[in-house]
Amino acid sequence: MIKAVKGTRDILPPVSGVWNQVEATAREVFRSFNYHEIRTPIFEETALFSRGVGEETDIVSKEMYTFDDKDGSKLTLRPENTASVIRAYIEHRMDQIPGTKRLYYLGPMFRRERPQKGRYRQFFQIGAEAIGNDSPVLDAEIIELVSTLLGSCGIHDSRLLINSVGDRESRGRYVAELKERLSAYLPELSVDSQRRAVTNPLRVLDSKDPQDQPIVEKLPNIHDFLNEGCRVHFAAVCRYLTDRGIAYEVNPRLVRGLDYYTHTTFEFLHGALGAQNAICGGGRYNGLAESLGSKVPAPGIGFSIGQDRLLMAVEDAKPAGFEPRPLDLFVAPMTEDAFNAGARMAKGLRLVGKSVEVAPAGKVKKLLELASKSGARYALLIGDDEIAAGRFGLKNLATGEQVPVTAEELAGSMG
Ligand code: HAM
Repeated sequence: MIKAVKGTRDILPPVSGVWNQVEATAREVFRSFNYHEIRTPIFEETALFSRGVGEETDIVSKEMYTFDDKDGSKLTLRPENTASVIRAYIEHRMDQIPGTKRLYYLGPMFRRERPQKGRYRQFFQIGAEAIGNDSPVLDAEIIELVSTLLGSCGIHDSRLLINSVGDRESRGRYVAELKERLSAYLPELSVDSQRRAVTNPLRVLDSKDPQDQPIVEKLPNIHDFLNEGCRVHFAAVCRYLTDRGIAYEVNPRLVRGLDYYTHTTFEFLHGALGAQNAICGGGRYNGLAESLGSKVPAPGIGFSIGQDRLLMAVEDAKPAGFEPRPLDLFVAPMTEDAFNAGARMAKGLRLVGKSVEVAPAGKVKKLLELASKSGARYALLIGDDEIAAGRFGLKNLATGEQVPVTAEELAGSMG
């Protein structure tokens, strides 16, 4: 028996209906903020991610699904979508379009992580990027968008953590200091952190290894290294958030697992998720386009919500409006003529927005059993007598009540 590959899964009905509701809600929130959909390919040249996300990150060094194509090129299943969006922005000269470019995406991402609750090798993200503007106004807009989207999905109890990782200049000074300080603790660090202390010391800050924690606590705070410009930017973001009534906690250790960030980084955490509690991550990436070889700058900020985790939170919160929608009508025909009459009525009902299943002709008892298992709100009983009389039995499957209706009365009688 061939089964789904480890770390991947099938989303089956009725749960897939809740996924659809969440996606429809997200699209509606994006529309309300004037964000438009971009669809980028699922695979890209490997160099896009190794340069964009960073060689020393876990994603690039351990987790990418990379393969050689038949023409010798190296390709990778996208582990995230920000690098792809910026590639598309540069490739299509979107910088020539006036104003801030507001783009959103939904779709699968691939990382070869150790699977556990809320962590998969194929997972789904709902994300957005605001590109071409380095104003803190956009940082606040993006965070407000996430907050609105989570609220629209019935999630009101997430925590927002924010930080500034500075610009190239201030981060350079901070990283030099970290390197210096970490060199004194090298033998006490975990093996991964020993390597990173030399190659990419910022990554030591988000080490989850308990062995590293006492050392991480002694390391300097990035806010003491921010230059004037970075401080002003961060203060403005905080002010805008306060002004919009969005609660946040500043966490100076929030450096995030991707190398492209500058200035603002943020995460939304949610209690119902267990160890994998980050429901959304994001931040500003002012130098990303240049690191991908672009001469055109594309300062931007964005986020990605982990859709699998969002769905876990929605299933936990059970907000109204996110239940799978039941079938409106199960048509139960007792003869071939009744089947044809039922199929004609179904055609008209579907055109006015009702969902209808027409069963093949059969015995009434069996049909009613099927109708009740289908979860439909109503069943329509049709036999030759009903066709002759022009009246059909509309049975409310919740109450058991049955009333005779004409074809014309049918849609109105179903509420
Ligand atoms: P990220 O923090 O790597 O950021 O991922 C964002 C979210 O995707 C996480 O908070 C989590 O909810 C979800 N996620 C990540 N890995 C997995 C996994 N293996 N299984 C299930 N869910 C997962 C990014 O991807 C950036 N592109 C965000 C961004 C957009 N920054 C700027 N613009």
